[in-house]
Amino acid sequence: MRYLTFALTKGRLASKTMDMFEKIGITCEEMRDKDSRKLIFVNEDLKLKFFLAKGPDVPTYVEYGAADIGIVGKDTIMEEGRKLYEVMDLKFGACRMCVCGPESARKLLDSNQLIRVATKYPVIAKDYFYNKKHQTVEIIKLNGSIELAPIVGLSEVIVDIVETGSTLRENGLKVLEEVCPLSARMVVNQVSMKMEDERIRKLINDLRKVI
Ligand code: PRP
Repeated sequence: MRYLTFALTKGRLASKTMDMFEKIGITCEEMRDKDSRKLIFVNEDLKLKFFLAKGPDVPTYVEYGAADIGIVGKDTIMEEGRKLYEVMDLKFGACRMCVCGPESARKLLDSNQLIRVATKYPVIAKDYFYNKKHQTVEIIKLNGSIELAPIVGLSEVIVDIVETGSTLRENGLKVLEEVCPLSARMVVNQVSMKMEDERIRKLINDLRKVI
């Protein structure tokens, strides 16, 4: 039997993924070691391989078939736009993609003025403003701490992930509009879906019972 390979999103999502797999009898002891710098882990009994990658790289590994299956946030799936099958909502990592800013920016969102939008997600932000709201905006790509942008005057609003809302609160910002709900998803390579149909189907069925 060939190995079924999983690309997991490094960090919180990976540890929640392993919690979920444990419930259906898929374990990988060596992955639980927090101090380890190892990137790839094998379960010889079940012929499974797991590797850890940066979120935006997970859809890339899956599209090219370097991983059969990926576990990744819906935000990343939308942003990367790779060719793959999204087969399951895993429900954990639930949060929302939102337009946020100071209360004073609310009126700008209904004004059709050319506003600046800072975000780590230019594709999602562009789609939302251009295709849903029909508002022309200037998108400014950032790589983190997006909440800084409206505070220091780089942009009027941001498009970012809101989970508990504490980052916004602690920085005097608010959710002004909701773009979409987000959570972790299972994605599958399009060829693997045919070649490993039986194993993947069983995995999905087993997971359905514990989610
Ligand atoms: C994310 C997101 C927000 C924050 C939201 O950032 O971009 O900043 O979490 O969470 P909250 O609503 O619970 O406060 P992350 O910590 O992943 O780091 P980043 O700023 O580098 O993107």
